[in-house]
Amino acid sequence: MRRPLVAGNWKMNGTRASVAELLDGLRQEEIPAGVEVVVFPSLIHVAQAVSELAGRSIGVGAQDCAIEQQPGALTGEVAACQLRDAGCSMVLVGHSERRLILGEADAVVVCKFVAAQTAGLVPVLCVGETLEQRESGQTLEVVARQVAAVLDACGAQSLAGAVLAYEPVWAIGTGLTASPGQAQEVHAAIRAQVARLDEVVAGGLRILYGGSVKAANAAELFAMPDIDGGLVGGASLNANEFGAICRAAGN
Ligand code: 13P
Repeated sequence: MRRPLVAGNWKMNGTRASVAELLDGLRQEEIPAGVEVVVFPSLIHVAQAVSELAGRSIGVGAQDCAIEQQPGALTGEVAACQLRDAGCSMVLVGHSERRLILGEADAVVVCKFVAAQTAGLVPVLCVGETLEQRESGQTLEVVARQVAAVLDACGAQSLAGAVLAYEPVWAIGTGLTASPGQAQEVHAAIRAQVARLDEVVAGGLRILYGGSVKAANAAELFAMPDIDGGLVGGASLNANEFGAICRAAGN
């Protein structure tokens, strides 16, 4: 049995005041015991979230980490071990906004994946196709290539300590959600790809769906056999809405 995970990616949003309000709202939400919940604030709000959520069942993660494993001379970056020291348990790697806007290639994503695991953080490896790639029938190939970059470099066993997130780029922040069937097809393909190398790891691997998840569509997505939770952007900035998504994952 895979424990559902609902991850809230706050992206580049929030002020100290709005984050305080959001955290206060989250503390009041009923979170099912069987669901793991982690929020990913902007780096500047990580310490605030860690302190305000202390003793709660909601974890804190970061949205990115440095490619280098050791702290040192890399201006502007934050090492995975520093994130761990600050109280993070997870870190997103390879989010499409970083791949597409900042030009992060698979090789960079792999370095970050390794740095995260070396520091004892669980990497959430994000993969997904653009609209153009979907329309030209390349979805499964693109996603398989992104997953293979990590499998080839780190082996299937590395995914025993990781989470995958399938986020079709065309569904992010657009209000367009992949249908449960469209998402399930890709999730099943990812699991099969891992299973060809290690069936046990594949069986235990949590694969989240991301892209315009909201309370109104979460239940039907989470009902799919290979969807193990969600990576939620916009809707995670509203405590009630996010709480409802977490509860949908518990049903
Ligand atoms: P939205 O939920 O706002 O579409 O964002 C999804 C996402 O990119 C989460 O990482």
